Amino acid sequence: MSYETIIVETHGRVGLVRLNRPQALNALNSTLIGELDRALDGFDKDAGIGCVVLTGSEKAFAAGADIKEMQSLSFPDTYLDDFITSWDRIGHKRKPIVAAVAGFALGGGCELAMMCDFILAADTAKFGQPEIKLGVMPGAGGTQRLTRFVGKAKAMEMCLTGRMMDASEAERAGLVSRVVPAAELVDEAMKVAAQIAGMSLPIAMMTKESVNRAYETTLAEGIRFERRVFHAMFATRDQKEGMTAFVEKRKPDFSHG
Ligand code: CAA
Repeated sequence: MSYETIIVETHGRVGLVRLNRPQALNALNSTLIGELDRALDGFDKDAGIGCVVLTGSEKAFAAGADIKEMQSLSFPDTYLDDFITSWDRIGHKRKPIVAAVAGFALGGGCELAMMCDFILAADTAKFGQPEIKLGVMPGAGGTQRLTRFVGKAKAMEMCLTGRMMDASEAERAGLVSRVVPAAELVDEAMKVAAQIAGMSLPIAMMTKESVNRAYETTLAEGIRFERRVFHAMFATRDQKEGMTAFVEKRKPDFSHG
């Protein structure tokens, strides 16, 4: 499939998507979101893919939703078209997605990174929700996800002032899992993704589902969910293989079933 605004590659069991609108710092217009949705659906359906890396350029992961596309919209336009709601599909993919963020991750760019399963940041990364400076607020989950990730004080300050957070602050605040030198970002993300893709696919998918449940429910319900899924894992071949390999002191050879 050919795309206009993204570059899609596969490397073994890892899918790689690069946002590619350099002239607009990867601003997320409707074409890009549609193409990204299709590419990620393709990876979800491809049994040969175990993990996906989503990245941008050295200068920008993404500088937000496309302001030029939004500028003249009216309330009925946004409401009737259910504007931005299509973005939610990106956050509902079933396979693990690692965001590799260098440069600006602003507005919808920060929100897109937070829809991924974790963020690996280059030391050049800058995160922010500057929408208030445009006379709006985050509209793709930013007020909710950022608050859950970094707490109310930082989220409120960032959303009310538009202040950017650099990579080390983002790591301290728990927004990103790790910071690596910019030159190593994509290689490191691909390595981590290959490691995940080498695990049992159904077990990795169930693990993602279970961790994400922590953001949707109470502790008691979340633990009940975890327990049911944990028990279900004993119906997989990969549980037998993983534990047998440990006992036999060899590497497991998962069959993804
Ligand atoms: N939408 C559309 N175009 C954008 C854009 C965006 N979000 N961000 C950058 N661009 C375009 C610029 O208009 C410029 O295009 P032209 O050359 O045609 O003028 C090009 O990308 C390069 O940008 P700059 O010249 O501004 O580059 P810079 O290095 O001087 O500044 C920046 C970089 C600080 C990121 C600046 O571009 C900027 O502030 N961008 C907007 C960030 C923003 O406000 N994001 C939030 C968008 S709203 C949103 O995301 C809503 C939501 O929650 C879903």
